Amino acid sequence: MKIVYHETSRTFHLYNDSISYIMQVMRNGHLGQLYFGKRIRDKEDFSYFLEFCERPMTACIYEDDRSFSLEHIRQEYPVFGTTDYRQPAVEIRQENGSRISEFQYQGYQISEGKPALPGLPATYTEQEEEARTLRITLKDELTGIRADLFYTIFAEGGILARSVKFYHEGTAPVALSRAMSLCLDLPDCDYTWLQLSGCWARERYIHTRNLEPGIVSVGSMRGNSSHEQNPFVVLKRPAADERQGEVIGFSLIYSGNFRMQAEVDAHNTLRVLAGIEPDTFEWRLESGESFQTPEAVMVYTDRGLNHMSQTFHRLYQKRLARGYWRDRERPILNNNWEATYFDFTEERLLEIAARAKQCGVELFVLDDGWFGARSGEKAGLGDWEANRERLPGGITRLAEQVEAMGLKFGLWFEPEMVNKDSNLYRQHPDWILATPGRSQSHGRFQYVLDFSRKEVVDAIYEQMARILGEARISYIKWDMNRSITECYSSEWPPERQGEVYHRYILGVYDLYERLTRQFPEVLFESCSSGGGRFDPGMLYYAPQGWVSDNSDAVERLKIQYGTSLCYPISSMGAHVSVIPNHQVFRNTPLHTRANVAYFGTFGYELDLNKLTEGELEEVREQIAFMKKYRRVLQFGWFYRLQSPFEENEAAWMVVSEDQKTALVGWYRVLNCVNGRYTRLRLEGLHPSYSYRNSRTGTSHFGDELMYAGLITSDETAGQVPSHVKPCTDFESRIYVLEVTEP
Ligand code: DGJ
Repeated sequence: MKIVYHETSRTFHLYNDSISYIMQVMRNGHLGQLYFGKRIRDKEDFSYFLEFCERPMTACIYEDDRSFSLEHIRQEYPVFGTTDYRQPAVEIRQENGSRISEFQYQGYQISEGKPALPGLPATYTEQEEEARTLRITLKDELTGIRADLFYTIFAEGGILARSVKFYHEGTAPVALSRAMSLCLDLPDCDYTWLQLSGCWARERYIHTRNLEPGIVSVGSMRGNSSHEQNPFVVLKRPAADERQGEVIGFSLIYSGNFRMQAEVDAHNTLRVLAGIEPDTFEWRLESGESFQTPEAVMVYTDRGLNHMSQTFHRLYQKRLARGYWRDRERPILNNNWEATYFDFTEERLLEIAARAKQCGVELFVLDDGWFGARSGEKAGLGDWEANRERLPGGITRLAEQVEAMGLKFGLWFEPEMVNKDSNLYRQHPDWILATPGRSQSHGRFQYVLDFSRKEVVDAIYEQMARILGEARISYIKWDMNRSITECYSSEWPPERQGEVYHRYILGVYDLYERLTRQFPEVLFESCSSGGGRFDPGMLYYAPQGWVSDNSDAVERLKIQYGTSLCYPISSMGAHVSVIPNHQVFRNTPLHTRANVAYFGTFGYELDLNKLTEGELEEVREQIAFMKKYRRVLQFGWFYRLQSPFEENEAAWMVVSEDQKTALVGWYRVLNCVNGRYTRLRLEGLHPSYSYRNSRTGTSHFGDELMYAGLITSDETAGQVPSHVKPCTDFESRIYVLEVTEP
């Protein structure tokens, strides 16, 4: 990996074996974007990549050169108002009302490794030689605002991480009303745009759109990254698919309001912007102050969507997630939420835990309802002390009893919320986000604590740290069950109200940072009514997240498949729940529920006491199976084979690092009669290794399985022979392939 600066052409070239990224200081001192894509050979001058062309009716910078207009030139960090009419990356509102700025190149610095982003989640290096960082300094002389653009290229993979830091080196205060993390101008728009969208219980479905002149965008103005849109988009060449073709993935490491957009201009150039949502953001900068944007990550590959996903998976698993649990197999858990909801006693919980232990579960998690006056949704949030009517011995005794059974104990919190019926609210009614004189909307009868205030974060930290210090807690589920409304903080003056959404998220990150530092061996799982904040920002603190409140196996096929576009299997909370399912009331076979949940962190969301002896035996086998193959499932290479968005059948697989073990998950939604012959062309195997197929007992070379395919034709469907047990709808299978002769 290298970062080269060519003095005479004032060109920067960042490259590794996979990618090249090239920029140049242009005649007017702005930075031009020359190239991002597959690695090309370095040379002194690539100026010709910027096509200057004299066009009629174009506003120009110089009277002696009618070809120099920013209107049709690709730039690195563009502003509005100086001949470029596309959406800008940065906007600064000045005291005289002007929004025009002009960032001129000042200099650069190259450093080994990657600097941290204070207060913000970001990718990191463990050894300096893993990455190199270029800092380019630009300055707007009139306001005195300096912008440092950071580019980190990793030694391996087509990865470029970017962020911007602003410094006020002038005198008069300004307002940053737009400060995007990334701008990428591409020379053509021949791409399909892919986004992950949905809503509660239907998160991260794959949607694609063609690009046309104008803007496509996704984003959130809810205060959390949201169920509706995810801070992740892909540009793929129309012919690219899972296995081949050019794709660029964009991911924003942020959990609050965001925007990602692509703008096609009249000349078919394409501008991608990613960063904090500008409509709900304005940051006041006074002399001497600075502002750091969140980090955005771009991944380029010409090997298709699956390779892009694998690049994100490795980066986010190894160099975004941190701490004790990063590389460890995740405990198989039993969560009581769908088993009891709010209706539990200590005795009932212990019964559930005891049965879970008998089946091989490793962690018992007590969900919502254990604290304050919480007997339902209307009270208790904010009072993080055990409800002694339900739990007479408090959390400490319950945790001890669970530990005595040989299980670890986990606990649910919703740190950012308060019910009006709580001691915390009665003592501090001004601690919620609320606009003076306006109505206060609730979500699930709860209000959002003003995490932009340090004293509020401190108070919640103290409550949580006390319980974590007193009781033997190994896991925390951190929930967030409503979006922000009437956003206003009594802490900040009028001119700083535009900062509150971002300061709120900084407060959330601060609390996460303090707790994860103080309790490094506690496993954190993020949650937001399921997957309302399933984003890379959360992964930095919590290496796993609850993917969705929809626990139905068939629904999960699409949700987990879509989520896998960016996020690793080890980050996806996936559980077996009861039938009829509580969200869609569907009855799926127990083996199918497990076969889907294996491709996640795996657990049970039910009371195992309610299962028959036969079902319990099956559960024991499932848990033993998961323990045996957990490392491959959670940390192997993941391949999507057949999309549930396209067919009645879906399939995916994982392959171990040494290519000696692979597990293929095959799922059919509806049964069919007299079905067609089907095969799955597998991926990632070693062509000359011989793999034994656990279902057939036969052995096959990797090349057969990859090029001719694994036969999945099904004789259990339709009019089956008398010796075969017929299947129903929602059938599934796991094929274990293990090397017999390496
Ligand atoms: C929403 C979560 O997604 C559920 O799993 C559960 O924890 C409930 N909140 C509890 O209120």
